[in-house]
Amino acid sequence: MKKILVILLIIVFACSLFVLSACEKDKKTVLYVYTESGFPPFEYSKGDEIVGVDIEIAKAIAKELGMELVVRDVMFDSIVSGINEDNAIGLAGITITPDREQAVDFSIPYFGDAIQYVIYPKGALELNDELMIEGDLLKNKVLGVQTGTTGDNIVQVEVKEGGLFAGATAKGYDNALIAADDIGSGCDYVVIDRLTALQIAAANNNLEASQIAGLDAESYGIAVKKGNKVLLNAINWILHNLLEEGKIDQWLEEHSESIEE
Ligand code: ARG
Repeated sequence: MKKILVILLIIVFACSLFVLSACEKDKKTVLYVYTESGFPPFEYSKGDEIVGVDIEIAKAIAKELGMELVVRDVMFDSIVSGINEDNAIGLAGITITPDREQAVDFSIPYFGDAIQYVIYPKGALELNDELMIEGDLLKNKVLGVQTGTTGDNIVQVEVKEGGLFAGATAKGYDNALIAADDIGSGCDYVVIDRLTALQIAAANNNLEASQIAGLDAESYGIAVKKGNKVLLNAINWILHNLLEEGKIDQWLEEHSESIEE
């Protein structure tokens, strides 16, 4: 009889521990991370999971702040305008631009080595002496872009102003993976950030990617709601430490191997 009581007590204790820890979890504030997962190595699908450098950063931030991480995969052009909650951030290889700085606050840059590349069928374009593609070669072409990205914007502005891409058309896609699949049918080439372009080309035998001459470098930052200084300061501190510890470089390497098509 006594034995049964002890066993019962142990069971009750174990159950209450379980309930307590479940309650604890409910009490954790959620950190919503808005991203668009067609952008390897920063965010991409692996099975039913979204992984990548930005997701590693998101996990580190949530862990450091004791928050529960919820990743929301949305259209890229809805991210910056959609950061309206204090516990939401945009982490999607987002280039820091003056236009976007009107709508959100940006963290310190965590990646400064982005620039626009073009993805094209192997051998279709000739490189200049610096192994880059001159904008001239893209004139009058249909250029696939991810809607709302800096690539999209650059092509459109340059076309409008009769610049680098005069006569070209920007054709918007949900992401660069989908756009690249359409090369040769719906578009001629795709314009997207360097690492994503290189990975898409590496995963496809018929494609290659090169830098477009005459464009400026871009830096990625994390977007937070305007004026949310507490979260911004915390994120800057965490990013500073991750950069210092070489974590971001390590994740870049880990996620740059190969992507699933
Ligand atoms: N860096 C570019 C921009 O800010 C492209 C980002 C695309 N990111 C993504 N997760 N699909 O416009």
